[in-house]
Amino acid sequence: MKNGLEDVIAAETLLSDVDGEAGRLIIRGISLDELASTATYESVATLLLDGLMERPVTETELRQQLGFMRTQLFAHVRSLDADLLALPPVDALRALIARLADGEDFDAALRLLAAPAVFLPAILRLQAGREPTEPDATLSQSADILRMLTGRRPSAEQTSALDAYLVTISDHGLNASTFASRVIASTRAGLTSSVLAAISALKGPLHGGAPGPVLDMLDAIGSGENARDWLTQALDRGERLMGFGHRIYRVRDPRADALKQALRPLVSAGQVDRKRIALAESVEQAAVAILRERKPDRPLDVNVEFYTALLLDALGFPRESFTGVFAIGRTIGWIAHAREQALEGRLIRPRSVYVGPLPRAA
Ligand code: CMC
Repeated sequence: MKNGLEDVIAAETLLSDVDGEAGRLIIRGISLDELASTATYESVATLLLDGLMERPVTETELRQQLGFMRTQLFAHVRSLDADLLALPPVDALRALIARLADGEDFDAALRLLAAPAVFLPAILRLQAGREPTEPDATLSQSADILRMLTGRRPSAEQTSALDAYLVTISDHGLNASTFASRVIASTRAGLTSSVLAAISALKGPLHGGAPGPVLDMLDAIGSGENARDWLTQALDRGERLMGFGHRIYRVRDPRADALKQALRPLVSAGQVDRKRIALAESVEQAAVAILRERKPDRPLDVNVEFYTALLLDALGFPRESFTGVFAIGRTIGWIAHAREQALEGRLIRPRSVYVGPLPRAA
């Protein structure tokens, strides 16, 4: 038995490869370094869907169809009642997505790709006591998300930074939420069901729930000189440092570098607090050094969530929404894997070893 299914191969995929020793991520044959600095959300979504739907779609078509779908889905925002708005944003998002029809076709996929992009900004605005902003079908998905969030058209740097984020987290092998999506797809339940299961897996702090707590940690540390003492005390209390460690990577998570790179234009444009970046770099250095001293046999380095926190904060997303933004980006990976599983895989049905008592002999 492999606890946590570590190193168990549970699927063949054409979608992405995570090389934990080299610290490399490949999506559809292209390395993340190249994709994150050049691709748009729509281009990587087209790439991931290639050959998996009943009809092919170009990047331009996908952009137009997503824009149209965003405007269609806005009506659902009206059904956000006080009970849903009292939930954390990712739970309200999941509840609203649960109202969408299920299906395995391209229309179902399109609905699910557009839905979190419309729903999350509306949830955040309503929770802040403001009216939701209607979608603009002529914009790219990234530009429109930022516009719906803030009510203002974003700068080119902001749109590129969100594109870089959504591309960077679009797919990542058989992580917990993607596996959940494939398990549901293997029963042929439909894409909405897959995405709902995946969001439920994503929200845990060991997976996609870490970036909010990363900002809390930076705020609590306050200054570079405090980093070592604060981190040592947290580890002495048996806590895990959020934004560090990974099941597969034994070196730095390449997505952390892609996001650090994506922050640069925002720093140059004066849209990021430079002091916070400097603090983050001190904390990163101190944490990696302390983790190395304490766990010399288990390399623990920075992961994607550390720089996610800084990037999404700089783009104006409140920290409690970071997991929901992760869901906006990862939905394409969940859908592509669900389709791959439904087209080629069998029902996923592993076995357990019974270690409980046996019935008494008669
Ligand atoms: N801080 C302190 N110790 C850690 C950390 C950490 N962040 N990560 C792992 N360890 C220790 C852990 O306590 C364990 O020690 P011991 O063997 O003495 O019990 C050892 O390293 C191995 O840990 P593990 O839990 O077996 O490793 P895993 O592969 O199950 O965990 C992880 C991977 C991401 C859940 C873990 O590193 C963690 O909890 N990190 C903090 C949360 C976090 O940043 N999550 C985002 C992950 S990246 C987003 C994604 O791709 O999903």
